[in-house]
Amino acid sequence: MLPAAIAAYAQALSVVGNPASIHSQGQNAKRMLEEAREKVAASVGSDPIEVVFTGGGTEAVNLGIKGLYWARAPRPRILVPGGEHHATLDTVEWLGDHDNAIVEWLPVDELGRVDLNALRTSIEVDPASVALVTLLAANNEVGTIQPVKEVAAIAARHGIPVHVDAVSAYGHVPIDFALLRKAGVSALSVSAHKIGGPVGIGALVLSRTANVVPLIHGGGQQRQVRSGTQDVAAAVAFAVAATDAVQNLPDENERLRSLRDQLVAGVSRLVPGAVLNGDSSPDGRLPGNAHFSFPGCEGDSLLFLLDAAGVCVSTGSACQAGIPEPSHVLAAMGRSAGESRGALRITLGRTSSSEDVGALLEALPGAYAQASRAGLADRAPRGASATLA
Ligand SMILES: Cc1ncc(COP(=O)(O)O)c(C=O)c1O
Repeated sequence: MLPAAIAAYAQALSVVGNPASIHSQGQNAKRMLEEAREKVAASVGSDPIEVVFTGGGTEAVNLGIKGLYWARAPRPRILVPGGEHHATLDTVEWLGDHDNAIVEWLPVDELGRVDLNALRTSIEVDPASVALVTLLAANNEVGTIQPVKEVAAIAARHGIPVHVDAVSAYGHVPIDFALLRKAGVSALSVSAHKIGGPVGIGALVLSRTANVVPLIHGGGQQRQVRSGTQDVAAAVAFAVAATDAVQNLPDENERLRSLRDQLVAGVSRLVPGAVLNGDSSPDGRLPGNAHFSFPGCEGDSLLFLLDAAGVCVSTGSACQAGIPEPSHVLAAMGRSAGESRGALRITLGRTSSSEDVGALLEALPGAYAQASRAGLADRAPRGASATLA
């Protein structure tokens, strides 16, 4: 968390009062809450009333997707690109298993961008049966930025609402909900911990004209969309982080891009066979994201070896019962299971420095050599591993 957000959080925790109470302490808490809402709204270019605080990005995505789906009943079809975050994947699949939804996966190209023609064709088969379209603003694994406005414009022609999961884009690329709303976006999810705010608070930015059925019922707070006593301290800390992220976005974007380019150039020089996944054009991917497939080794082996050298990276793949699964994002982009096996996501953030990139590049050749030997041993016939290891 940002030190300023921690300080604001700690201070706000000692404020007594439920923002729904009429007495003066309650009204003081309400003032703090509404000021926080204004700041979060400013960070995404929305009106304050459009900001519905949630318990994080996952809840916001659930509310956006299920809420729109239920409000549009009995329309059964949900259109969604392949390679989405699990908050979306599992939500639409749950609706398919439990609530008659027909989930239609839209193809993405080799860079991870949704196919607009496929979207158009899918809608035109029967526009009246589509409940909603949902997509990432930027892919959290490979960093590819989606053509959100174009998607919204296609859906808007048929009055179909669009939900955008902007959790991984928030704070890294500008978000202007007023413009997106005009283009046809109804709801957009963000999360505080991605920008230096606390874990456990996020927001669904919901246009005034969008109808959603709430997930949570109770006291009717927040336009009856999300009941429950509101967490003033978390909202205050979220607002501090949001203001900071937006103020520093142009400079930070530039700084991260240059660090990322240094990282990508270094990795490509040290491991010439490494393939950069996703869009390599300057505006096509998140500024702090580099995602590679390293041939001949497991991403998990590289991850552990780099971790031992003090460098934290991730594979981005789900690990179920200890069995590493190939990335569903790379699979959606048409990559083979072999290419997915050696995938590694290397992300840079606010506290990343040129020295950090240097540390990664120093540790990488040794880690790659060791991971490749382990990869060779894994593929060798039984009994050969002792000689190869
Ligand atoms: C793209 C995306 N959507 C949703 C989420 C879930 O957000 P939260 O961790 O706040 O529940 C994440 C978190 O990593 C994410 O990257």
